[in-house]
Formats: sequence, structure tokens, C-alpha cells
Amino acid sequence: MIYLPFNTLCLSIFFLCIESGVRADFGTAAWETWWLYNGVSGPAFWGLINPQWNLCSKGRRQSPINIEPSRLLYDPQLRPIHIDKTPIRGVLRNTGQTLVLTVDRASPVRVNISGGPLTYRYQFEELYIRFGPEDVVGSEHLIQGIAFPAELQLYGFNVELYSNLSDAQQKPNGVAAVSIMIRVADEDMTKPPNSELQTLATVLKEITFRNQSAVVEPISVHGLLPETDYYMTYEGSTTHPGCWETVTWVLFNKPVYISRKNMYWLRQLKQGTPTAPKTQLWNVRPTQHLHHRTVRTNINFAQAQAKKCPTMHKETYYKANLWRPQVIP
Ligand SMILES: *[C@@H]1O[C@H](CO)[C@@H](O)[C@H](O)[C@H]1NC(C)=O
Ligand SMILES: *[C@@H]1O[C@H](CO)[C@@H](O)[C@H](O)[C@H]1NC(C)=O
Ligand SMILES: *[C@@H]1O[C@H](CO)[C@@H](O)[C@H](O)[C@H]1NC(C)=O
Repeated sequence: MIYLPFNTLCLSIFFLCIESGVRADFGTAAWETWWLYNGVSGPAFWGLINPQWNLCSKGRRQSPINIEPSRLLYDPQLRPIHIDKTPIRGVLRNTGQTLVLTVDRASPVRVNISGGPLTYRYQFEELYIRFGPEDVVGSEHLIQGIAFPAELQLYGFNVELYSNLSDAQQKPNGVAAVSIMIRVADEDMTKPPNSELQTLATVLKEITFRNQSAVVEPISVHGLLPETDYYMTYEGSTTHPGCWETVTWVLFNKPVYISRKNMYWLRQLKQGTPTAPKTQLWNVRPTQHLHHRTVRTNINFAQAQAKKCPTMHKETYYKANLWRPQVIP
């Protein structure tokens, strides 16, 4: 259903955006403002422009990755993931590099992310929206080589060990990142747009340019999740510099939907200022090598097949199981 042969197109669009070979001299400029997702300060160069970001080029547990459904490993120890339902307030910002909602830290509300593969409790702090210029590119993670039009990423930090995300992302077990793929809702609304996502999108018109931000109406992070208990999980990194390998990723097996209109407004966001708008905001890092990491899931394909259980089978959603028990003669 999602598996159209889009990947070749997607990759070629991406590579067009990366200019090759040039390494600029960045002197002692503030590193934080120098990186982008394209051009000479794009992902291929992050590890070169700042020595503290060398994991971006040398790391072997990097994110995002392409998920191969046939290689998922069922792990019966994986529990349901828990995210608090309490609404939070926050500010959505176009940083010129990315689009990020930061939770209002003055507010006493703390949204916990726990359970699933996580052995600590994590506190939600940032939400990234990754997207591309067309429906065939946009998500950072790919499923069987296919990109979705957009991807939501909820970042939480290990609140049992650390005091904030910027500190925790550089420390062991520092971060939990929950990924939700986004598809564009059909005109006939058989899959209605996610209402929390619609709320977020109402301020997009106010943050077209770099460094513009807007306070969003309180949203429930839990309300952004698709209706499923099933997910995939692996150990990876932040997908922004310094690519710290401290992130436990959790990717749900179903997408949520955004309206075509709001997808349009996402694509109006620019990298630059009103006087020098530059190009469309582009915040997608290409996929990284898996390097023999295991991607685990709580979907028990073998059981679903053995029972020929249609509801379970339907739940698996991403065509995901080539494994069959061997009949030993
Ligand atoms: C998050 O967990 C802490 C510790 O268990 C708890 O005090 C807090 O109320 C939780 N947050 C919500 C929104 O339930
Ligand atoms: C994050 O925590 C570290 C260590 O406790 C602290 O030094 C730093 O100032 C904090 N940063 C922010 C943005 O609060
Ligand atoms: C971004 O906006 C803040 C105020 O919201 C301002 O203090 C800062 O100088 C701006 N930065 C840039 C690079 O324009």
C-alpha cells in the first residue's frame, strides 16, 4: 500500500541538493549556526566542520536508517510504550536549519516517555518535523527504501540521570526518540488528519523565515501517536550535529495523517530571512549504514501467521514478515 517504487527518485532528488567536493574554511565561526542539511555545510560535511562532531562522519551507530521489514527481530521482552496524555505548551521555531517545537520549560507539566525498550524514564522536550518538497521525500527513516512525505520525532531526555536534553544527548542512554511517519490525507478523508498536528500547523504561516517562532496552542503529545501498540526499535544517534550515539529510537508501525493544505504550508518554510529567503527549508539527513545493528519489534509475526489471525495480521501494517518456522522432517 505504501510501497511504490519511489526510492530511486527520492535518492536522486537528495543528491542534487548536495554539492560535491568543496570544503570551505569555516575558521572559528560559531559552529551552531554553520550547519545545514544541504550544500557545503550539509550532512556529508558535519563531521569535518567541527571536530566535536566527528561521530557524524566516523560513527557506526548512526541515524536515520532504512528499516528492512524482513530483517526485524521479534523481541518478547518489549513492553508497550507509554507517553503521558497531559497537554503541553511550547514554541514552534523555524531555525533556518530545522523545524522544532520546544516545550515550555517554565510550565510545571512534564510529559514522560517510558516503557517500550526503555529502561529509564525520559522527559519529552523537543519535537521535530522532517519533511520534503514532494510526497516521495521527507521522512528521515525509510521503510524498505521508501520515504514518507514527513516524519515527526519526539525527543525526550533521561530524566533519572540528567537535567536537560542538551546535556543528556551527549551522555550514555541520554535520549529516547519516538518517530511517527506522516502521510498526506486523501481528499475523501477516509483517513482524517491528526487533530494535534492540525493544531501545530496553524502557526506555520507565522514562521516562514529563519528565526521566526510562534507559541502553539497546548497539544497532547500522546494525541500525535497513531492507533497502534506496535513499533520497531534500535540504538542510534541524533540526526543533527553532533550525531551523538545516545539515542534509543522507537518507530511506530503506522503513520498519522496531515491535510494536503498543511503539507503545503510546511513546504512554504524557508531557510533564510525575508530579504534573503534562500531555498525551502530542508531538514532531512540521509540514511546511515546499519553496521550489523539489530532492529527489534514487538510484532510477533510467527504467532500471527501460525494462528492465521486476520486482525493481528492487519495490525502488522508494514509488510514485514518473511520468516517462517522450518518444518524439520
Ligand atoms: C511523569 O512522571 C513523574 C514521576 O513518576 C510524575 O511525578 C509526573 O506526574 C509524570 N507526569 C505526568 C504528566 O503524568
Ligand atoms: C543542562 O544541564 C547542564 C548540566 O546540569 C547545565 O550545565 C546546562 O546549563 C543546562 N542547560 C540548559 C539549557 O538548561
Ligand atoms: C533570533 O531571534 C532572537 C529573538 O527572538 C534574537 O535575539 C536573535 O538575535 C535572532 N538571531 C538571529 C540569528 O537572527
